[in-house]
Amino acid sequence: MARKLYVDLKENSYNIFIEKGILNKIGRKIKNIYNGKKIFIITDENVNKYHGDKVKESLEGAGFNTKIMVLKPGEETKSFNTLPKIYNELLDFKLNRKELIITLGGGVIGDLGGFVASTFLRGVAFIQVPTSLLAQVDSSVGGKVAVDLERGKNLVGSFYQPKAVFIDPEVLSTLPEKFYRDGMGEVIKYGCIKDKKLFDMLITLKDRKEVMNSIEDIIYTCCSIKKDVVEKDEKDLGERMLLNFGHTLGHAVETFYNFTGFSHGEAVSIGMYNISILGEKQGITKIGVSDRIKEILVNYQLPYEINIEHNEKIVDTIALDKKNLGDKLKIILLKDIGESIIYDTTPDFFKEVN
Ligand code: GLY
Repeated sequence: MARKLYVDLKENSYNIFIEKGILNKIGRKIKNIYNGKKIFIITDENVNKYHGDKVKESLEGAGFNTKIMVLKPGEETKSFNTLPKIYNELLDFKLNRKELIITLGGGVIGDLGGFVASTFLRGVAFIQVPTSLLAQVDSSVGGKVAVDLERGKNLVGSFYQPKAVFIDPEVLSTLPEKFYRDGMGEVIKYGCIKDKKLFDMLITLKDRKEVMNSIEDIIYTCCSIKKDVVEKDEKDLGERMLLNFGHTLGHAVETFYNFTGFSHGEAVSIGMYNISILGEKQGITKIGVSDRIKEILVNYQLPYEINIEHNEKIVDTIALDKKNLGDKLKIILLKDIGESIIYDTTPDFFKEVN
């Protein structure tokens, strides 16, 4: 069933369309919201192989003049150094300020392409067409766009909302298992922070096939949670921080393994479980919550353990994280499944992590 969500951000408001097979008719859909002629598509080699022609044909069928730029897949592409190459292609295509960019891909393409859109000619409109589960439930919604510097990820970026988000759950059928699990880590996070019903439903699903049978509902639920949070706190100064549940520790794990050991969703899974154990020890998190989280992570074959040898190094990594300015640190804790709070502390909170 086709679903639609309206993200209400005053003059930056937009719709999220969720529908199986929507990519086949994306040209007609975009015709309803964009009356220019040219569309520049940014994608990567993997996504282009499966969906590039389909999207291009649908857009050209609706009368648009398109150009597709196909980048190498992977985080290295999200580099500041990739930008001049894309700006040059945009200039060659003579895209003007009233025309449109489409980002067709996962989080890397969405973040990078969104950043390009926010800066080229001081900003041109863009539409997110996320093709990974992680991007469909998280990064394509809410307007965080960024590129990486050599000294760290997402160090240059802005808040720049898309004109629309088109989510086709059908594209997930070609998603490799590792990326599927990566996305499920974030899906589970939404249940943990805001929606016990979602959590209880997810824990009963047996395998990927069962998840796929309910995927439109699952994506819709995650996007509505994200929409509510972003509407309250677009610039990430309060409520939006709840979306970072499991991320402080998760980010330390990713950094520690140099972004090669665990995927983002896997690292967040480890973070969610371990921070809940610490929350229980502090008397903030209800006893038994960490066991429930472990149960769901095991169900989705997601990791939950931290290698104990490295625990003091993890605390150091948290203390050195550029995001944790000064000694103070805001972390997200659960009081119970579906109920999350922002908690002021210091990196020492993580001393007992194991
Ligand atoms: N992914 C977290 C946020 O959008 O705020």
